[in-house]
Amino acid sequence: MTAVSKRVPAAITTERLVLRLFRPGDADDRYAYQSLPEVARYLYRPPLTREACAESIAARAGGTDWRADGDSLLLAVCRADEPGVMGEVVLTLRSAHARQAEIGWVFNPRYAGQGYATEAAGALISLAFGRLDAHRVFARLDVLNTASVRVCERLGMRREAHLIDNDLDGDRWGSEYVYALLAREWTG
Ligand SMILES: CC(C)(COP(=O)(O)OP(=O)(O)OC[C@H]1O[C@@H](n2cnc3c(N)ncnc32)[C@H](O)[C@@H]1OP(=O)(O)O)[C@@H](O)C(=O)NCCC(=O)NCCS
Repeated sequence: MTAVSKRVPAAITTERLVLRLFRPGDADDRYAYQSLPEVARYLYRPPLTREACAESIAARAGGTDWRADGDSLLLAVCRADEPGVMGEVVLTLRSAHARQAEIGWVFNPRYAGQGYATEAAGALISLAFGRLDAHRVFARLDVLNTASVRVCERLGMRREAHLIDNDLDGDRWGSEYVYALLAREWTG
């Protein structure tokens, strides 16, 4: 976003949550949800193996720079008052020049329906528009992913595009929504 590399903070706290970098000891918690077919259903890839969970944690243990296209911040989402990881949120710098960032979220179904994904994503959007100086944050999601559509809408994101049959998932054509929000529109 600027010529200067920006390290992201070690942890973000919200009313109920702590968002922090993953640690090696989180691999089992992460595998518990990333291994589930129903969780991977709309992620355009198969469920993760335990090895893949542990490897990506190790690869991101040092955090990330926020400078070049593709730089990506993956944060574990934990309850402030309980040990363990409930899910994750991710922010990827898609265009450093135009300050465009893509957001995503994946949670353990055990913790569904309590607003944790919306709360965590809201905190990450605040980071994106604040310290990381993004101009626009967007999300891409399968149109069938109704839970994710609701997260976008609760966050006040605008549906900007409906791409028809833009992906092939096995023998199923996939369609996609693009939701987005500009920095000047974010009310926090
Ligand atoms: C997408 C996903 C994170 C959404 O999870 P979720 O539990 O529905 O979302 P939230 O944690 O924000 O919870 C929202 C629900 O909790 C309810 N809720 C309860 N207490 C709440 C609170 N304090 N604040 C906000 N919502 C609350 C809301 O009414 C809402 O229910 P509804 O959807 O029936 O209206 C989850 O389905 C998931 O991980 N899916 C698999 C991975 C995936 O597809 N990721 C997205 C790829 S684009």
